[in-house]
Amino acid sequence: MADPAGPVLGIETSCDETACAVLTPDGRVLAEALLSQQEHAPFGGVVPEIAARAHLDHLPRLVRETLDRAGGGPLGGVAATAGPGLIGGLIVGSCFARGVALARHVPFVAVNHLEAHALTVRLPGLVPDGLAFPYLLLLVSGGHCQCVAVEGVGRHIRLGGTIDDAAGEAFDKVAKLLGLGWPGGPALERLAAQGDPKRFALPRPLLGRPGCDFSFSGLKTAVAHLVAGFPPGPLVAQDAADIAAGFQASVADVMADRAGHAIDMFAARHDARTLVVAGGVAANAALRAALAQAAGRRGFTLLAPPPRLCGDNAVMVAWCGIERLRLGLSDPLDHAPRPRWPLEALAA
Ligand code: KG4
Ligand code: ZN
Repeated sequence: MADPAGPVLGIETSCDETACAVLTPDGRVLAEALLSQQEHAPFGGVVPEIAARAHLDHLPRLVRETLDRAGGGPLGGVAATAGPGLIGGLIVGSCFARGVALARHVPFVAVNHLEAHALTVRLPGLVPDGLAFPYLLLLVSGGHCQCVAVEGVGRHIRLGGTIDDAAGEAFDKVAKLLGLGWPGGPALERLAAQGDPKRFALPRPLLGRPGCDFSFSGLKTAVAHLVAGFPPGPLVAQDAADIAAGFQASVADVMADRAGHAIDMFAARHDARTLVVAGGVAANAALRAALAQAAGRRGFTLLAPPPRLCGDNAVMVAWCGIERLRLGLSDPLDHAPRPRWPLEALAA
């Protein structure tokens, strides 16, 4: 039976993480589980059909165990990522969530994955006294790269974004060129720590241009040409590290520049002075440092979720559900998941 003050179950299945979490309405994590699917490793990237089947294999057990660890009892609601993402996984997670909501007679919340990333930093306890709206968000993940003015739940204004690859996608593709495993971002960051960022001059796409759009495909191509110039076979470790460091420095410079422009655009319309970086790529320490500097120069403070909440997880999905339920927002049980679902569409 429903208990409006009961905890909320969150489910995340939009890509290759199968995750669930149970949070009290005031944001305390009672239990959580996160399984990064290993099934994709041999393919060097996420295979959508394999992801959907793996979600189907793992999700029921993970949810049962997580609910048990949370202590059982009535729920206050069920929230699941319903887009954007890989449609097979979205169908698995959201159908399962709607089944639980139906069986438990509790409201269902169809969570927009981007909004879940956007609101994570409002999770109680992450920022002293909490973070109020509005704030400027730089969302950098495997599938997305955009600057957004977050004015409230369901109220997001896009200021700019990538015109080709997402930031994480660029990290993953360059990591692949360097012979690193999947996912490439964390491995590339570790390798870059051993390298000289100045040895190879790589382009800084759109640096200094007006606005806050991004472009990464030219940088990726420049790395591909650079790698092709070395003798065939695996790169010498130091060469690979220097390329990784050069690439990461280029992304950091570009991000700091673009975020600076986004800050100017945001500050022209809002009094708030917070830049939030979220999404898987936000775990990167070099990028955080560059963004903190760019923010500080303009009187802004950079905030970011802890690294474990930057990448895909279900805590953020449950929290997004809680934020929506508080406002009386829930969704019908015939809600259809969507592979494409821009943040701006939430206003409607
Ligand atoms: O948010 P996320 O888990 O999934 C999406 O919604 O896309 O982001 C995953 C992306 C991957 O591209 C991964 O390589 C990247 O985040 N990533 C990183 C780091 N950790 C994860 N990129 C750079 N440095 C990192 N430390
Ligand atoms: Zn994500």
